[in-house]
Amino acid sequence: AVELSLRPRYLNEYIGQSQVKNNLKVFIEAAKMRKEALDHVLLYGPPGLGKTTLSNIIANELGVNIRTTSGPAIERPGDLAALLTNLQEGDVLFIDEIHRLHRTVEEVLYPAMEDFALDIIIGKGPSARSVRLDLPKFTLIGATTRAGLLSAPLRDRFGVVSRLEFYTTDELSFIVSRAADILDVEVIGEASHEIAVRSRGTPRIANRLLKRVRDFAQVRGDGVITPELAKEALHLIQVDPLGLDQIDHKMLEAMITSFRGGPVGLDTIAATIGEESQTIEDVYEPYLLQIGFLQRTPRGRIATPKAYAHLGIPMPDSQS
Ligand code: ADE
Repeated sequence: AVELSLRPRYLNEYIGQSQVKNNLKVFIEAAKMRKEALDHVLLYGPPGLGKTTLSNIIANELGVNIRTTSGPAIERPGDLAALLTNLQEGDVLFIDEIHRLHRTVEEVLYPAMEDFALDIIIGKGPSARSVRLDLPKFTLIGATTRAGLLSAPLRDRFGVVSRLEFYTTDELSFIVSRAADILDVEVIGEASHEIAVRSRGTPRIANRLLKRVRDFAQVRGDGVITPELAKEALHLIQVDPLGLDQIDHKMLEAMITSFRGGPVGLDTIAATIGEESQTIEDVYEPYLLQIGFLQRTPRGRIATPKAYAHLGIPMPDSQS
C-alpha cells in the first residue's frame, strides 16, 4: 500500500530526529556485534512524529521480526503471555500507547522485561504454585504520547528512552519531496516548503497535506503542484498559513472570546468547543505551546499575544 511505502524502512532513509537516530545507530550496532537483543526502548512525543516508523526501522536494522500491538489491545495477562511466548530470539515487540496497559498486564511485563521470564500460577487454592517459564530474549519498544503517564517501575525498565521532537521546516520539506517522488507527483520549487510550513512540525501531517494538494493538482490543474496551487488547495481545506486547522482556531477563539485569553482549565476549553480533553492535550496543545501561542500555568492555559495577533483580535487593555 502507498501509505506504508511512504514510510522509510531503514535509518539512512529517515529524515530528522538526528540525535535519536545517531544514538540508536550505535545501540543497534553494539547489540548486533554482541549478538544480543537490543535493550528495551521507550519512544515518546506528540503523535505523528515517527514512533511507529522508527520501531519498524529498528527491527529492520536489527534484522529481526516485529510484532505490533497496543496497550488497550492487550486485555488480559494471558494475551500478553501469548504474544511473548510466540516471539523468536531477538525479536521486537512493539506496544503502542503503552501508557494504556492494564495494571494486571503490566505486572506480567516486569519479569518479562527484566529476566525474560513469565511467572504463571498453576492450580488453585492450597496446591497452587508458581512456575517460571523462560522467554526468548526480546526487545520491547514502547511508544507513548505521554511518558509522564507511565508508572515509574515500567519506565525504569527501559534502557533507552528517547523523546521525539517536532521537525524543522527544512526537514519537512525534504520529507515532502521524498514522498512526492514516491507518489510520482511533480512538486515545483517552493511548493514543498509551503506544505512543510503548514505541517505543524509533523511528518504525518505533511504527507497527508501533500496527498490532498495532489488531489487538487489532478482535478483542478495539470497534475503539477505549483506554489500557487499548493496555497490555494491548503486554503480550501482550511489549513492556515501556520498550519493551524479549524480546531486550533476554535480553541484559541474560545479562550480569547469566552475567557478573556485565560487562564482557563483544559477541561473547560474542551467542553466549550466539544472536543475531548485528552485529544486537545495530546494532539493540539503541544504544537501551540511549541510556537508560543499557548502557555500552561498552574491556573490553566493562557492565549499569548502572538495568538491574538495571528487571529487578528486586539488584546484587551488590561492585558496589554
Ligand atoms: N515519512 C514520514 N516520516 C519520515 C521521516 N522521518 N523521514 C523520511 N520520510 C518520512
